[in-house]
Amino acid sequence: MIEVKDLTKTYTIDGQALKAVDKVSFAVGKGEMVSIIGHSGSGKTTLLSLIGGLTKPDSGQVMIDGINLWSMNDDCLSEFRNKKINFIYQFSSLIPTLTTIENVMLPTAFGNYSEDIEGYARELIRVVGLEDKMNSYPSHLSGGQQRRVAIARAFINSPEIVLADEPTGDLDEDTEKEVIQLFHRMNEEKGITFIVVTHNKEIANQAKKQFKMTNGILSAI
Ligand SMILES: Nc1ncnc2c1ncn2[C@@H]1O[C@H](COP(=O)(O)OP(=O)(O)O)[C@@H](O)[C@H]1O
Ligand SMILES: [Mg+2]
Repeated sequence: MIEVKDLTKTYTIDGQALKAVDKVSFAVGKGEMVSIIGHSGSGKTTLLSLIGGLTKPDSGQVMIDGINLWSMNDDCLSEFRNKKINFIYQFSSLIPTLTTIENVMLPTAFGNYSEDIEGYARELIRVVGLEDKMNSYPSHLSGGQQRRVAIARAFINSPEIVLADEPTGDLDEDTEKEVIQLFHRMNEEKGITFIVVTHNKEIANQAKKQFKMTNGILSAI
């Protein structure tokens, strides 16, 4: 359960205060999928970054499963984040010296995994349609293919919450559909909570709860 209350983040640019996120309040239940649309510059990325504990708000609260993110010290916060949350960014960054399968498995390198993690990595890579690029390096992949590797990687650690920032922005239509199907499958089968920021109205409409961001203000659609 994510509860956001009166969340505000102001940036000062050339002495001018700009409210990137302006008193945003909303809640997302466990296993829900919500979408957020809005023009460029309306504060969507800032909001995700606040919810994910990467940016500190000026005021307001983010509660995840009853815990106030900003009441924890840095170590606790990063552990909490690593355990529960995964991001899919607008611009994915893969490790250039690792292959597709190695990049996808990288987040598991520091934990104990009893299950067949390599098998799961292969399955995720198949789902994003890159089985023939299993051993390719990022420099041999297109931008869209790199994005798909990053999407596969986001699920390997079985996160409880996925925050996706325009995850299908540079994908062709077919791959976009597959990725969205993957999100729905992960949502239904594994109960992962999703907040998806998207320009694509069709994708936004598939979420049960839909929001719009306008000049830092979030409203239900
Ligand atoms: N680190 C930052 N420093 C200063 N201004 C920022 C910073 N990040 C975002 N902004 C500003 O905050 C506003 C919202 O940005 P952003 O959250 O990236 O919007 P969106 O993701 O909807 O395009 C924009 O006007 C942007 O220029
Ligand atoms: Mg953005």
